Amino acid sequence: MDWVYVKNVNQYDGQEITVKGWVYNKRASGKIWFLIFRDGTGIMQCTVLKNEVAEEVFELKNTLTQESSVIVTGTVRKEDRSPGGYELTVKEINVVQIADEYPITKKEHGSNFLLSNRHLWLRSAKQNAILKIRHTVYYAICNYLNDNDFYRFDSPILTPNACEGTTTLFEVPYFDLGKAFLSQSGQLYLETGIMSLGRVYDFGPVFRAEKSKTRKHLTEFWMMDAEAAYVEHAQNMDIQEELIRYVIRTVIEKNLQELKILGRDIEQLKKADAPFKRMTHKESVDFLRSKGSEIGDKDDLGSADEAMLTEASDVPVFVEKWPKETKAFYMKRDGDNPDLVLGADLIAPEGFGEIIGGSQREDDHDILLERMEKENMSIDEYQWFLDLRKYGSVPHSGFGVGLERLIGWMSGVAHVRETIPFPRTIYRIKP
Ligand code: 4AD
Ligand code: MG
Repeated sequence: MDWVYVKNVNQYDGQEITVKGWVYNKRASGKIWFLIFRDGTGIMQCTVLKNEVAEEVFELKNTLTQESSVIVTGTVRKEDRSPGGYELTVKEINVVQIADEYPITKKEHGSNFLLSNRHLWLRSAKQNAILKIRHTVYYAICNYLNDNDFYRFDSPILTPNACEGTTTLFEVPYFDLGKAFLSQSGQLYLETGIMSLGRVYDFGPVFRAEKSKTRKHLTEFWMMDAEAAYVEHAQNMDIQEELIRYVIRTVIEKNLQELKILGRDIEQLKKADAPFKRMTHKESVDFLRSKGSEIGDKDDLGSADEAMLTEASDVPVFVEKWPKETKAFYMKRDGDNPDLVLGADLIAPEGFGEIIGGSQREDDHDILLERMEKENMSIDEYQWFLDLRKYGSVPHSGFGVGLERLIGWMSGVAHVRETIPFPRTIYRIKP
């Protein structure tokens, strides 16, 4: 007997197949009962008729509990009224295990309860849909990079120094060498990679000891850092725009079903696949003030500012050319105004906020050294990074995509904690 995944049953109309999975739900009415079956790839209704199965199979309507594991054999039948378009007329049900009373039911549960039961919550339809979109976004990013000459270059997680400032570093004891830190971003290492390979990226977990309690912050999240030699600021934004538009199209192509389960406004998502807007930090501050914000000349944009800035925009907005004090030490100064740096944040519409941070990098040895000294950084620790500016320095740029923020936007899910299998926040490390 063919073992078939529910997502592929349309290829088996009229044939006998076997599916392996779990009881999602069941409904009984006299001589017929329905097993709502799920196997991870999809959900399918299985019809059990009293006259067509053995007595003990029919009686399972009384004993099968939610999430019991079952192997079901039957005939595929096209049924337009059914959600997936196909049903199974059951011949045989093999029970693998009868599940204990399942803690997560159809009724509303509080988010604390669900997070404590994250290991089980992952099975529910919405979480299943988000996980599938995560899969798509991950591979879409890798495909785009692969098709555009980026080599994968894995940066270390245990590092001797900070990439994004010392205030959000996690420390770990490191044998006789003292302290090591969990990486906040692989960027500095990627800058070494481009001098060998031209264009590189990494993709993995990064860590920030952020005290933030917002719906956009995790302490462990996934970042894709990309870096390219001879690419300057404007082209850096072009690459980001192309990448994100490719991700949008791929999610719409592969995950229409999941977007519907999540109630995502798909038309809104389609509208974002158009040229992105670009404005300077100063323009954004002026705009926000005209709307009543009290943002200062050199302030970072708060979550409310980001929402206000994109309120009237269907597409993401790049905010570029930031005051140098606001941004990290490695950003290149603007040739037209040395008080500004050639960095850009990409702000997603619909209130989803910053999804990418990127910049052209300072490639002048002495300017970089001066900036690092001003910030009291240990020159000894970063000598290798400065070396890149001594041995064939080139203009170069890169950016980091926050995977969970991007998935949140694609899925229309407000809180990033639902976009990663096991979210880590200041309050939660279990399960
Ligand atoms: O803007 P960030 O801090 O940039 C960097 O780390 C650069 N070194 C990247 C680079 O140029 N290669 O972080 C990049 C993105 C942010 O735009 C945001 O989407 C996400 O990472 N991010 C977080 N996501 C979840 N939780 C947090 N605490 C995050 N902090 C940043
Ligand atoms: Mg940032």
